[in-house]
Formats: sequence, structure tokens, C-alpha cells
Amino acid sequence: MSDLNRIVNKILSNGKGILAADESNSTMTKRLDAVKIESNEKNRLAFREILFSSQSIKECIGGVILYDETIRQKDSNGIGIPELIISNGALPGIKVDTGAKSLAGSKEEKITEGLDGLRERLKEYYDLGARFTKWRGVYTITDIYPSKLCISSNAHALARYSALVQEVGMVPIIEPEVLMDGTHDVMTCFKKTAEVLQKCFEELEMNNVDLSGTILKPNMILPGKDSDEKISRYDVAKLTLECLKNNVPKSVPAIAFLSGGQSDIDATDHLNQINIINDTDFIMSYSYGRALQQSALKFWSKDIMNKLGTQDVFDHRVRMCSFASRGKWSESIENSK
Ligand code: 13P
Repeated sequence: MSDLNRIVNKILSNGKGILAADESNSTMTKRLDAVKIESNEKNRLAFREILFSSQSIKECIGGVILYDETIRQKDSNGIGIPELIISNGALPGIKVDTGAKSLAGSKEEKITEGLDGLRERLKEYYDLGARFTKWRGVYTITDIYPSKLCISSNAHALARYSALVQEVGMVPIIEPEVLMDGTHDVMTCFKKTAEVLQKCFEELEMNNVDLSGTILKPNMILPGKDSDEKISRYDVAKLTLECLKNNVPKSVPAIAFLSGGQSDIDATDHLNQINIINDTDFIMSYSYGRALQQSALKFWSKDIMNKLGTQDVFDHRVRMCSFASRGKWSESIENSK
């Protein structure tokens, strides 16, 4: 087993998953505005410290993805955030892209930037304790998009990013996110996601990325948020598994889904059903942002001094996702609290 593969296994084996807490300051401001909490450095840290020191981090989280601001912060006891995460048995990770910008040549679409100076930034993040990284490409479905240009430019950037990350001994999370926004049906999501994944793996192979030392973070196969199509959770799981089986090389050890705006229960049950029918060797787990944090954030916003209560809410959500990553979640477990 290579060192990179060992990192993947440490993060995602035995029902563990990833907490995506790498919202940029502007995204975090949106999340905090929604619950009427001022977005400043102190409040962003206060909420994240509550999550990172909770019991479920020890039990069910193998990696925490951080944003540049957070990896440099210290908790209220003066302990660096990366050390706090390590002391709870998880590995710190870092988002290294610098965001999705308008794509020249197809301006309504996005290209993720951040390759310039990346090699130097990666060395600094490694020294700060990071052992894995994240880069997210985004694709919107409409009648004409995603374009071939968007699919190939983002695949190229994801592959060059991954090669640089492995060069310094860290595991790249490869996140090509086909967004839920839109009125498209589920089979359009299936086809577009397949195209996106194929192009990503073509570029990853061309860039000599060691796939056994990567984590894929894909969307699930879902109808657009504004579509009228009704589909069972079982069908979502079946289509998602089929799309991944058809388009992800077997040498990829682990898949950790994004939640992408699904409700907490949808994100949990979909993952659960995927694991019940998973007949592959892929570890299928979670790398959720909103589906792990939103209930805790809402609770915290009502009384920001209530650390233990917030941790209870967060711990429950994380434990439910951990059950789901082993195909052991059920509504009765969900409601037995
Ligand atoms: P969500 O689970 O909220 O989609 O966030 C995951 C993530 O890391 C997006 O880049």
C-alpha cells in the first residue's frame, strides 16, 4: 500500500467520512446571514471550533476540509486548528482552488482557478499539517450546457491540480460537481455526469496521477431541483451506483459524495441505499458540508453560548451519516434519539 493510499484509508475506512468545513468567507457569510449571525473571523471560528471538538469527530470523521483562514487559526485554548483535529483522530485537509470564475469562451459557465503558485502554496499547507486537499469544478445543466469546453477545461485543471498535490505527498479530493440547479430530468443528470467523469479520468491518466491515492467527490444522480420528476430514493441510489461503475476506474479506492443542497434525510438515505446495493470495491462515504452542518448551525444561531447542545445536534447528524456509509441507517435509528 502506498503512503497516499494509506491516507485515503485512514480518512475513509470503517464508516468514517469527511466533514467539509471549507466554505470560503463569502460562502460562510451567506450561511451565517441566513441564520442572522454576523460573519466575522471570531464567529466563523467559534462555530467551527464547536464542530471540530465534538465527540463524533473522534468516532465518525476521518478528515476535515478547512479553508485558508481556518487552517491558520487557534482554538480558544490556544491550540492550532490542525492540531485540534489531529488530536481528535482525524486528518486536516485544505481547499486549494481559488474559486470558480466565468469561463472565457463560454461566459455563462465556470472554470475553477488556482493553479498559479499552487506548488508553493501546497508546501506551506503541508507544513501547517494538511494531508489532503480539495478542488471543485462546477457544471450547470441547461439545454446547451455543460459545453465540451467547460467539461474539458475543468477536467484539465482538476488533473493538473491532482498531480501537483501528489508531488508533495498529499491526497487530492477530485470534486467535479454537476449542480442540482435546473429543470432537467434524472437521465440528463446521469448522461452529463458520465461525460464529466469520463473526461476527468482521461485527463487524470494523461497527467500520470496515481488513482489509488485519490478520493473522488461526485454528485449523486438526481433530477434538477426545479424539475417535476418524482424518483424514489432507491432509484437515485441505483442510477448513482451505475453511473460510477461505468465511469470510474477500479483503481480509485474511495468515493465520498457531496450533499449539494439535498435535505439532511435525503443525503443520508441516498448514501445508505447506495451502500446497501454497492457491489463494487469502492468505499462509498460522505464528504458533506451542508448535510452535516446545517442543523447544527441553525441550533447554534439561537444561542451561540450553547456549545453542548450544538454538539448534540451535530453528533447526531454525523452518526446518521456514518450508519449510512455502512448501509445501516434506518428511520427508526434516525428518530431514536
Ligand atoms: P455540500 O455537501 O454542502 O454540497 O458541500 C460539499 C462541498 O465540499 C462543496 O464543495
